Amino acid sequence: MPLSLAVLVSGGGSNLQSLIDRIEQGVLDAEIKLVVSNKPEAYGLVRASEHGIPTRVVAHADHPSREAFDTEVLRAIEAHQAEAVILAGFMRILTPGFVQSFPRRLLNIHPALLPSFPGAHGQRDAADYGVRISGCTVHFVDEIMDHGPVIIQAAVPAEPGEGGDALAARILRLEHRIFPQAVQWLAEGRLGMEDRHVRLAPAKRPLADLSGLGPCLVNPPLEQGF
Ligand code: GRF
Repeated sequence: MPLSLAVLVSGGGSNLQSLIDRIEQGVLDAEIKLVVSNKPEAYGLVRASEHGIPTRVVAHADHPSREAFDTEVLRAIEAHQAEAVILAGFMRILTPGFVQSFPRRLLNIHPALLPSFPGAHGQRDAADYGVRISGCTVHFVDEIMDHGPVIIQAAVPAEPGEGGDALAARILRLEHRIFPQAVQWLAEGRLGMEDRHVRLAPAKRPLADLSGLGPCLVNPPLEQGF
């Protein structure tokens, strides 16, 4: 049985697209039951509809509190019977109650090497700081923003003065590789946890070809198809 997912977006949805593409290629053993956006104009909704995926807008502005908003999102997810929730550029902080509804089944992608540069502007903050390496992180979500146990990280060089946009583009290409991979590991039941250390159960599988990605370091390594 494929892992059934709800994907939450707020914007362009290129990470959503990377999940859809891998599912359609038959390498990601998952099914997206629902895409939820807190913004009606999010292009991620169009991407979902183009692939026949049900969508739902839960506008945060229409809800009096974070709890009320999260309850509505939770209802939608439960109605579509999604087992795991994927935050793909979802720019809202979720309440502890929501987080606790999906223990080890709630994943986020962040465009920086956590714990450096959490928050809404990870790429710009890293570029402004002048780091020489940045990247992206897929992690389990806990009650603290951009804090939960790390599943996979990818690092890329950052160049002086190039600005956040150039760095963001370099990072985004790797986001599209590591996020579907992390979801596949979840689908395969290969992610264990000791304290906050995520253990990936081994599998006899060839590794991915990273040529064309430019200089980067990905750990754990990507497997074939990702
Ligand atoms: C990505 O950089 C993601 O890491 C961050 O927001 C951006 C969303 O991009 N959380 P998209 O909507 O998936 O294209």
